[in-house]
Amino acid sequence: MADNLDTTFGELEAAVAQAALSTAEEIDAFRIRYLSKKQGRITELLKGIPRVAPESRRAYGQRVNALKQAVETRLEQAQQQLMAQERSAPVDLDLTLPGRRPALGSLHPITQTEREIRRVFESFGFAVAEGPEIEDDWHNFGALNFPPDHPARDMQDTFWIDAPDEEGKGVLLRTHTSPVQIRVMQNQQPPVRVIAPGRVYRNEAISYKSFCLFHQVEGLYVDQGVSMADLKQILNSFAREIFGDDVKMRFRPSFFPFTEPSAEADIWWRDDSHPDGGRWLEILGSGMVDPEVLKAVDIDPEKYTGYAFGMGVERIAMLRHNISDIRVLYENDVRFLSQFN
Ligand code: DAH
Repeated sequence: MADNLDTTFGELEAAVAQAALSTAEEIDAFRIRYLSKKQGRITELLKGIPRVAPESRRAYGQRVNALKQAVETRLEQAQQQLMAQERSAPVDLDLTLPGRRPALGSLHPITQTEREIRRVFESFGFAVAEGPEIEDDWHNFGALNFPPDHPARDMQDTFWIDAPDEEGKGVLLRTHTSPVQIRVMQNQQPPVRVIAPGRVYRNEAISYKSFCLFHQVEGLYVDQGVSMADLKQILNSFAREIFGDDVKMRFRPSFFPFTEPSAEADIWWRDDSHPDGGRWLEILGSGMVDPEVLKAVDIDPEKYTGYAFGMGVERIAMLRHNISDIRVLYENDVRFLSQFN
């Protein structure tokens, strides 16, 4: 091989070995410089074969091939190195920044209040009972001493599933949790001490103070010698747990078909904008279980007495959280709900 050719090869081999190949641009330029079909150095060398003396062609060809190999090997290595670098390169990451907190869900304020009520009564020794939301007329009204033509039945505008027949028998969405009293006493002789939280439905005009469904917690205690004093004591203790030790509570005579006597309980709600500095707000209905109700479930009213109470969960949640429109509890607007985390 002629000396000048040898020098050319030597220079090319050194250039290939030393070329800086750390960026994508350098790698591209390198590939074009050596391998481009039009004017790449290797292409030019191959095109030059006819001009090489025949006896040197073999050695020449081998050297060109070796050079091409060296180019390809360097290209491949450089490319892999670049890819590895890109994979591990830090992406504008500032480890000193505070983390981003994922938005956590939380319990609905109705659920929170219901659980709070439940917790209080469980601490008083009450068990938790449940009943179906789809009820029959007898459990919802009949056994609770609502006669078919009793005006008290009009108190509750009912969603009927099967409209009542001539005897008043039908299927409905329960209008209160009181039918759970009946279901519990059908299955259990006294002593009975339960609360029954759950949903109830009423076909009412929807407004800031009433919705077509809401939640109640029913209470029932039946045993020998249960008195109205026991009822007042338990409800006073309950009010202190929920509203604080300085809560003021009063009982007003009332009427429910399933209790005799009946009373509604109010709590004093402080309100500076009010001329009296506050007002009485009704929070529950209660009374001594009517003997007719005990008879309906084959419990001897001569031997046993009991008290019952029922309260609206929304009403209590609205008081505790100062909510003035019941409907916001059912809109599930996250801006509202996220205040109760
Ligand atoms: N069921 C009644 C209602 O929905 C509330 C109630 C009143 C429940 C008195 C009771 C009770 O257990 O003794 O309005």
